[in-house]
Amino acid sequence: MTRILMVCLGNICRSPLAEGILKSKLPKSKFEINSAGTANYHLGKAPDLRSIKIARKHQIDISKQKSRQFVVSDFDTYDLIFAMDTSNYNNILALSRFNTDKKKVKLILNESFPGKNINVPDPYYGGEDGFNNVYNMLENACDILSKKLLNDEKTR
Ligand code: 4NP
Repeated sequence: MTRILMVCLGNICRSPLAEGILKSKLPKSKFEINSAGTANYHLGKAPDLRSIKIARKHQIDISKQKSRQFVVSDFDTYDLIFAMDTSNYNNILALSRFNTDKKKVKLILNESFPGKNINVPDPYYGGEDGFNNVYNMLENACDILSKKLLNDEKTR
């Protein structure tokens, strides 16, 4: 089993989408995918309606997800931790204990644009266009990531 965690700030806009999109591309039998936020603003809440809506438009149901905060033990549970932006990347690294923790943390858009450190913009205070943009960025990154993971799976 390969375990992957998607992380943003509130775990209601970006990382729930990343979780839903990546889940739709990988077999459940081999990949466990989850998401969390570095902040605790929205604990237990369902994703933002605008995220639910854009996912549904693409036949992905994220409505049952519940927001939770990133915890240090996530470094033990997950093999790979993808931050949506550099701010959350730094928040996660600040909680790391060992070098092995640090090595698990990556920026999601480096899957699409290696080494460019591009952020998935926070869409919370904007309109639906922002969510559409976020969806497209995550779809592209998760497509590349899923192909890489499936390929790695074959060689193991
Ligand atoms: P997310 O978006 O990190 O993509 O879930 C946000 C959600 C809520 C807030 C900020 C960003 N907030 O400030 O409440």
